Amino acid sequence: MFPTHRPRRLRHNASLRDMVRETTLLPSHLIYPLFVQEVSATPEPIEAMPGQMRHTMDSLIAEAEAAAAVGVRGLILFGIPAEKDPEGRQAYAENGIVQRAVRALKARHLPLVVITDVCLCEYTSHGHCGHVEDNDVENDTSLELIARTAVSQVQAGADVVAPSDMMDGRIAAIRQALDERGFTKVPILSYAAKYASAYYGPFRQAAGSAPAFGDRRSYQMDPGNVREALKEVAADLEEGADMVMVKPALAYLDVIRAVKEATNVPVAAYNVSGEFALIEFAARAGVIDRERIIRETLTSIRRAGADLILTYYAKEVAGWLRSGS
Ligand code: PBG
Ligand code: ZN
Repeated sequence: MFPTHRPRRLRHNASLRDMVRETTLLPSHLIYPLFVQEVSATPEPIEAMPGQMRHTMDSLIAEAEAAAAVGVRGLILFGIPAEKDPEGRQAYAENGIVQRAVRALKARHLPLVVITDVCLCEYTSHGHCGHVEDNDVENDTSLELIARTAVSQVQAGADVVAPSDMMDGRIAAIRQALDERGFTKVPILSYAAKYASAYYGPFRQAAGSAPAFGDRRSYQMDPGNVREALKEVAADLEEGADMVMVKPALAYLDVIRAVKEATNVPVAAYNVSGEFALIEFAARAGVIDRERIIRETLTSIRRAGADLILTYYAKEVAGWLRSGS
């Protein structure tokens, strides 16, 4: 090897380093998650997620416009309803908060793909992602409510639906419900490998969606499993998913890689609220270089195999990438 091979020859010049970099990070790789609420007339800061807001309709639109202006191409909406009930009715209400937000966003004709999270946990009084009977989350009765939610979001104008509930058979149920109503062109981004993770803590505080009893381990995946992720992904693709997601991202980079190698569809990864909070609170404590850590983190998720990254940093990072810094 040495002295013939000197890998450092390609590292001395910044432009040369740019030329030989294997992994790219572009604004079009980023999907921006946004929360919209209907109780407060002003946007509410989320304490567990510094810099992120529970938006009003107006601030949501302003934020979407700002993201589009720096080249972000997709956002995913999470609704926080005024009323919650055991059946999660506001998830599929014609004038539910997400349905109204989708209509308002689509009316602006922004160059943005409007994705809706399809789940019940933000809308149910018990905080579970499906239909609860006898303190248990019932799979098959949940499917109808999940499909109804997806249909109502698409009727409002959603471009892509992203089911995050982890019920078995939900992709087939949603695909059939959409197709029956003529929505054959609307893609499904499946949260296919979604783990029962402590990294969702800040999100649940933001959305008030922590389960009132028990936990989500009877439907979300065990963190120890990777072959099971491939089984979930295969099932969702068989049922008609167009894109698949791994969630969370950082503690599951091996799962992203495995899913990438096992499939031929776009793979997304969700850089979740807890991953965001780790960086933000460490940066506030002055112990890390925030911007470098964010770039390195998102690059690592791309390098692992993610085509798309759902990240609360989407707008900010797209701005950095745009300005060429
Ligand atoms: C709803 C949903 C959750 C997240 C996305 N969709 C929370 C959960 O499953 O409890 C988490 C996102 C994040 O932590 O940033 N099913
Ligand atoms: Zn849920």
